Amino acid sequence: MSQPEEKVHHPLFARLYLRMTSSRKARGEDEHRRDLLAGLSGRVIEVGAGNGLNFPLYPETVERVLAVEPEPLLREAAIDGAAEAPVPIEVVDGVAGRLPAPDQSFDAGVASLVLCSVPDQDLALAELRRVIRPGGELRFYEHVIADHGIAARLQRLADATFWPRVAGGCHMARDTEAAIERAGFAIEDHRRFPFTPGAPVPSTPHVLGVARRA
Ligand SMILES: C[S@@+](CC[C@H](N)C(=O)[O-])C[C@H]1O[C@@H](n2cnc3c(N)ncnc32)[C@H](O)[C@@H]1O
Repeated sequence: MSQPEEKVHHPLFARLYLRMTSSRKARGEDEHRRDLLAGLSGRVIEVGAGNGLNFPLYPETVERVLAVEPEPLLREAAIDGAAEAPVPIEVVDGVAGRLPAPDQSFDAGVASLVLCSVPDQDLALAELRRVIRPGGELRFYEHVIADHGIAARLQRLADATFWPRVAGGCHMARDTEAAIERAGFAIEDHRRFPFTPGAPVPSTPHVLGVARRA
């Protein structure tokens, strides 16, 4: 079956994301990222690692991280960040829909604010399932569709019009937990909470959790 081409070229978004780093931290995002990574061990793959905001927060029980990032500017920043990280991190080019890794070669996968941006969530999650060993974990921290009708309608409207174009392919109205379960992961723990990273946009509902690969 032929897959849609997965190209990532978002230089303006990448610059904006780099600029937003300090405001995200000032709003306390590192607490969520710490929760995302707490207790991880062994070999980890992080998909769409951006400029490596998770890197300083990996626990020392992690043996090594393969960080996949397709956007050149963000990847360059991630390579710099990896050099300072408390665990060994290799940053490579690649896309979520075709991960540069063998089957079942990781104990855990990390998806952090990336399943909103991939062109095909089901394909990205199938790839994560392929590279995570049976019984391994998927840790996720994502913004998702709102519970309430009006907010969800606004998110869908934004997705259908301007938002993916101005926000590096991001979508606000994705039901990411449903996609995770559809892909063959069992969600074991999760919580929803509002978080506003900076601009006043209706992408505030976030979810953070752990899913187990069957
Ligand atoms: C909002 S940023 C989040 C970056 C990082 N994960 C974090 O937590 O800060 C979205 C990231 O997804 C990446 N991305 C977009 N499309 C992708 C794809 N098809 N495959 C892998 N990563 C992708 C972008 O390049 C960017 O780094």
